[in-house]
Amino acid sequence: MKFGRHFLQIPGPTNVPDRVLRALAQPTIDHRGPAFAALGREVLDGLRRVFQASGPVVIYPSSGTGAWEAALVNTLSPGDTVLMFETGHFAGLWRDMAARLGLNVDFVPGDWRHGVDPHVVHTRLVDDRDRRIKAVAVVHNETSTGVTTRVSDVRQEMTAANHPALLLVDTISSLASIDYRHDGWGVDVTVAGSQKGLMLPPGLGFNAISDKARAAAKSARLPKAYWDWEPMIRDNTSGFFPYTPATNLLYGLREALAMLLDEGLAQVFARHARHGEATRRAVKAWDLEILAANPHEFSNTLTAVVVPQPHDADRVRQTILERFDMSLGTGLGKLKGRVFRIGHLGDFNDLMLAGTLGGVEMGLSICGVPFNPGGVSAALAYLSAARD
Ligand SMILES: Cc1ncc(COP(=O)(O)O)c(C=O)c1O
Repeated sequence: MKFGRHFLQIPGPTNVPDRVLRALAQPTIDHRGPAFAALGREVLDGLRRVFQASGPVVIYPSSGTGAWEAALVNTLSPGDTVLMFETGHFAGLWRDMAARLGLNVDFVPGDWRHGVDPHVVHTRLVDDRDRRIKAVAVVHNETSTGVTTRVSDVRQEMTAANHPALLLVDTISSLASIDYRHDGWGVDVTVAGSQKGLMLPPGLGFNAISDKARAAAKSARLPKAYWDWEPMIRDNTSGFFPYTPATNLLYGLREALAMLLDEGLAQVFARHARHGEATRRAVKAWDLEILAANPHEFSNTLTAVVVPQPHDADRVRQTILERFDMSLGTGLGKLKGRVFRIGHLGDFNDLMLAGTLGGVEMGLSICGVPFNPGGVSAALAYLSAARD
């Protein structure tokens, strides 16, 4: 028997706030009627503020993977070269998709502990004298590793190289949690999903689109139908969609956007930064290793913790689930069994973090993993001293 709430501390899907759950539970309305048009316009306006984008944001009834595909098929043609970086599992999946779509991927190898090196972007673009590279695609926050790429530095290097490639950015586990500016950083397509910083269930995918990306879409020749931006943008101007939208998820989205904008984006980012720092202090006090190698690339939405061999990270996760009813993120791809991931994003507060770290500390102890006790105390000391 279980009592109290389950602790869902995977790095997405995240906890859905009660306000949003209640908003989802409304009667479904006519998606071609006037009440829907008002809802459509309201969520599209709110999304532009969260993406910090002045141009169109489109909403698909899809997971993040669909929004990845939309970004590629709208902007590129068969055989185009895309510069991508092996920052982790999700970067690899996006690369595989691009290859399957018939794109030529120039994949820069990586060790899954670092973000994209902006200087490498510069070198690759300067060397591309024939302008074969049509897009640079990066994952802002690698959810498999807890490493954040400095997108504004990547953009600066692209500009310094005077190269016309589009910049496509996956913000699936960073939007509405870590500072991100679609316009301000000169991003052409921002890809996002509903189930992480936006505090919704899975089921919505997003593209924020620059003028340059929209212009590129006019001549892009990869086949597209369902994902085509233009019918979406056309119908969205009056608040409607070209096909049946996920009506009830949009009710939830309206509520989640209201919560985020009431709090203020700067405060949302500060809250996540503080919880990220408290988590890292706990891991350091445990004398365990954080997978992310560079402090200036630490993720504020999740922390991947390396479990010393021969201990198995999945056994620690399983013990914590069985004993304390808390889900932590598993190691993905080559990190299977080597790390567990603590999600600290979305609808989350100090005491939830204290409980999360308490569960981890007890799980480590039960599994006999060598560590120093005191991680929870280090996090609590930081949380009591530092306001966000
Ligand atoms: C960074 C990143 N990109 C892409 C995806 C794929 O999104 P989805 O599983 O919603 O299709 C995820 C999922 O967690 C992710 O974290």
